[in-house]
Amino acid sequence: MVRSDRSWEPGHADLDWIEATGRPPHPVIVEMEGVAEPEGIPILSRDSGRILAVLAANRRRVIEVGTAIGYSTLWMALALPRGGTIVTIDPDRSRTDRARALWRKAGVPDATITVVNEPALEAFAGASDALAGPFDLVFIDALKEEYQRYLDALRPRLEPGAFVVADNVLWSGRTSGGRPSSDGDGTVELRDFCARLSADPAFETAILPIGDGLLVATLRMDAGA
Ligand SMILES: C[S@@+](CC[C@H](N)C(=O)[O-])C[C@H]1O[C@@H](n2cnc3c(N)ncnc32)[C@H](O)[C@@H]1O
Repeated sequence: MVRSDRSWEPGHADLDWIEATGRPPHPVIVEMEGVAEPEGIPILSRDSGRILAVLAANRRRVIEVGTAIGYSTLWMALALPRGGTIVTIDPDRSRTDRARALWRKAGVPDATITVVNEPALEAFAGASDALAGPFDLVFIDALKEEYQRYLDALRPRLEPGAFVVADNVLWSGRTSGGRPSSDGDGTVELRDFCARLSADPAFETAILPIGDGLLVATLRMDAGA
């Protein structure tokens, strides 16, 4: 294990400075953060949202697995170039209806975001034109035990150079074994997903220790289809 032996780690002052230096989030992003926690709706961290925005800024066709109330979707939608689109999948229509209302409030045209209300694996097995691809950014944030199968289904629909991003790969310390896991909680599958993607020479992959762990990979331009 090679690890920096620096005696300094970023602290609260550094994190506050990072937040103060960043562009203030859109008011609807802040509104979503305010409703998600009290209602127990899982959304990604603001830091991870900022990374998603960076990655989305020059993308044209985004696919997201796991919409909830559309927080991560909005980070990407606000960063997309003109004409960029997002397809987002979540079987929970009550959540995605709220998401649509919030996206409208943020001024995102309906045509920018297509919602698919089906379990993702069923949707990928169907013949929906919206899911045909090719996609240049994939964001995975639904059932942890299915991450690998989402990626397997999407792999033939990725453009060379596409980004693949997945949230919760640290799984609150369970993936590394730093905290105990239990059978069926998705830990084993997350560990396998991270190991397989990291070892795949078609991708360059990094796991960022922000939020609950954000995996970021890119499909190499010289990778075979
Ligand atoms: C962690 S939340 C998504 C959070 C969202 N990406 C964000 O950061 O704002 C996970 C979502 O996955 C949805 N979900 C559950 N099963 C699913 C499936 N089989 N396919 C797609 N989405 C699913 C849930 O309804 C839930 O809203």
